[in-house]
Amino acid sequence: MTRPWIVLKFGGTSVSSRARWQTIAEEARCQARAHRRPLLVCSALSGVSDQLEELIRLAPAGEADPVIEAIRTRHQRLATELEIPFPTAVEEQLEALNKVSQGAHLLGELPPRHRAQVMASGELMATALGAAFLAQQGLDAGWLDARNCLCTDGEDEDPFRAFLSASCAPGPDGDVQAMLEAREESVLITQGFIARTPTGDTALLGRGGSDTSAAYFAAKLEAEALEIWTDVPGMYSADPRQVPSARLLKVLDYAEALEIATTGAKVLHPRCLHPVAQAGIPLRIKATPRPELAGTQISGDLDDRSARVKAISMKRGVMLIAMETIGMWQQVGFLAKAFQCFADAGLSVDLVSTSETSVTVSLDPTANPISEDRLDALCQALSPLCQAEVIGPCAMVSLVGRNIRRILHELGGTFQVFEEQRVHLLSQAANDLNLSVVVDHDQADRLVRQLHAQLFGDSSESALLGPTWQETFEPDAQVSGFFSKTSWWVQKADTLLELGAAESPRYVYDGDTVRQRGRRLMDLGALDRVFFAIKANPEPALLRILAEEGLGFECVSPGEVAHVREHLPDLPMDRILCTPNFAPREEYAEALDLGIHLTLDNLHPLQAWPELFDGRPVFLRLDPGRGRGHHAHVKTAGRQSKFGIAPEQVEEAARLAQAAGAQVVGLHAHAGSGIRSPDTWPATARFLASHRSLFPHLRFLDLGGGLGIPEKPGQLPLDLRALDDALAAVRGEMEGLELWLEPGRFVVAEAGVLLAKVTQLKAKGEVNYVGLDAGMNSLIRPALYGAYHSIVNLSRLAQRADHVAHIVGPICETGDTLGYQRRVAKPEEGDVFLIATAGAYGHSMASHYNLRPPAAPYVLN
Ligand code: LLP
Repeated sequence: MTRPWIVLKFGGTSVSSRARWQTIAEEARCQARAHRRPLLVCSALSGVSDQLEELIRLAPAGEADPVIEAIRTRHQRLATELEIPFPTAVEEQLEALNKVSQGAHLLGELPPRHRAQVMASGELMATALGAAFLAQQGLDAGWLDARNCLCTDGEDEDPFRAFLSASCAPGPDGDVQAMLEAREESVLITQGFIARTPTGDTALLGRGGSDTSAAYFAAKLEAEALEIWTDVPGMYSADPRQVPSARLLKVLDYAEALEIATTGAKVLHPRCLHPVAQAGIPLRIKATPRPELAGTQISGDLDDRSARVKAISMKRGVMLIAMETIGMWQQVGFLAKAFQCFADAGLSVDLVSTSETSVTVSLDPTANPISEDRLDALCQALSPLCQAEVIGPCAMVSLVGRNIRRILHELGGTFQVFEEQRVHLLSQAANDLNLSVVVDHDQADRLVRQLHAQLFGDSSESALLGPTWQETFEPDAQVSGFFSKTSWWVQKADTLLELGAAESPRYVYDGDTVRQRGRRLMDLGALDRVFFAIKANPEPALLRILAEEGLGFECVSPGEVAHVREHLPDLPMDRILCTPNFAPREEYAEALDLGIHLTLDNLHPLQAWPELFDGRPVFLRLDPGRGRGHHAHVKTAGRQSKFGIAPEQVEEAARLAQAAGAQVVGLHAHAGSGIRSPDTWPATARFLASHRSLFPHLRFLDLGGGLGIPEKPGQLPLDLRALDDALAAVRGEMEGLELWLEPGRFVVAEAGVLLAKVTQLKAKGEVNYVGLDAGMNSLIRPALYGAYHSIVNLSRLAQRADHVAHIVGPICETGDTLGYQRRVAKPEEGDVFLIATAGAYGHSMASHYNLRPPAAPYVLN
């Protein structure tokens, strides 16, 4: 029986060092041992194709010699590293490059036919070196000229396409099978990217064509599998350079892989999928630096074909053409005429979105040579038909996965991230494999990270999802990426371990971090005053630190006011703000007696107790109409919320205040909690200022709190500088008004951790449990809001986080789970766990439920 073929393709970085060639040799040996015949398809050494392009550019001017020298040195260096003599075949190629360059100099140009020869030399030289190395390693390896096997279909008359971007027939090929069967060597090595024309000239399969070559070879040979070896171990749920928490996609079908490749992922060239899909040959992506990893397997038969988003991809440099006209409404042939203009300009259209009066299309930069001239010419051609506007450069962000239309309802939360974006175009692919938006270029990175955090933030390994990039490449780190190694609690880990061992559970707060946070807010030039919302964390030592930094305090009850006064007896009353909600009359009277700032958030006090406010300065809390925040429970504005005076009641409130003899010196609004888009507070300021004319005594705008922090991997911090800049612009518009802020979480959340000891371990069914002595009585946020707190095994910070478990407490409710499917270093009873970002609304919301005392606070300094 003949041995089946397996085609292995190695990209540029995979053929550029001795270590990588050793992996190649080892792989070839393994395949041969498993009774397969490996065909190795190789690219040029990394960077050489770029050098050859440079040569093509310089040759007509006679300036190519230094480039040829650089190419020689590059190959000589690798030959030395591989400990092989410099192959004559490489010498011959260099000589040919010299000749072509001289010819180009004489002619003053380099036609496509010769350009193809020049480019092909990269692969020819790399494989000559590789063949020599494999032989030196004792492999029975033979060199094969790919041009003898791959013949282009030769249909294109355009010389550019015929020589530089050609294609071949994808099906099985008996001649090639017979030719290669006849070779006696057990391993063959050949070139990617190159083929021959029907007339015997060298042709190229277009940039990225090595993947395509390998796929043609696999299809022609009816190979058992195609493996694409590259420097990443597969396709990921997002580009790992952008999103280190991106997960490996272990299995995909051809259509999904094609969609991910065409919407931006660079790991695989989209053209290579068609030949293998047609022949039903499975394709594996493998990493040359990490051959032991399983990579991504792409095939036609997936067990799980359920609808879900599998990846978020992005393409930069997208240009939009927006065409507006009332002329197209119910007209016949408008689109045909418009698209003809694109065809005439040689531009291929990607996404399309239409309405009665406008059509917007996107141009994909990878498919089009987009230049200003071309776009001008296009707009000119479109001008008799419509008004055309070019928007860009933009970026296209796509959610990719099977049957997206069926799971729109599950994406509800995800759409919230678009709140902060200008979406130029939204498109849902007809094949139901992607949902794409086109946004401003500079917003795209952030959008991808936010979407990924929403869709994959809580994910764990499964049949589809593999380890994250970070877990694969920084496996020792429980603390990486999201938590920088400079986090205060990583630096103070030893002290925390001692504290955790001495008393558990306990909250620990870092005074320095709180001070820094307070200072950063006080340093915002656009703000006049900052009040710390003490409900987030009323720990006296922290209040003292913040008072030293100049902050005031926002309170919501007589208890909080008394607490501030007790621990800061010298604090002027002017630095206390009181914002009660549905509180009894006495609380208002008490606040007025003390002389602290008082906010009314309803008409009732003014209607029912007007005498209280006679001659008094007050603030009115208005409802800005739209709530924001990390969870429905903390959105404190809008129709559904119990807070604030509705917009239609503001005039009445002004009348009532005047009738009572009160002076409205401030307006206040708080949209919600845990917001990370800086435009929120400027919008609130503009909303409040829009009522200015009703309040002649107005001096202060209190924009509320709500400043969020990143909680999940992949989330970005609030951009304080952007906030300051935007507020500064607002200030310019409203002279004479002070801007105040009253944040809680932002000041203390990241400064606090909850330490808890491991009580018991359990494995039940598929699930592992790690039991801690702290539960929802100490930290209720996960149970109440589904909040995410990162969790690490502090006792084993340097160990691999390879144990996946639910982290639970001792309370008798199923909701007593601090984290689901978390990866931690494998614990033992007594280990100290750390639950991060617990400094806000942790201890202040704790209870004695089950009569278990909650974790007690401790301040580090
Ligand atoms: N101002 C007012 C009027 C508020 O109601 C709040 C919070 C703040 C300021 C401070 O908001 P911050 O900057 O901390 O987001 N327990 C929830 C948060 C509830 C917030 C209630 N009001 C949590 O754990 O996320």
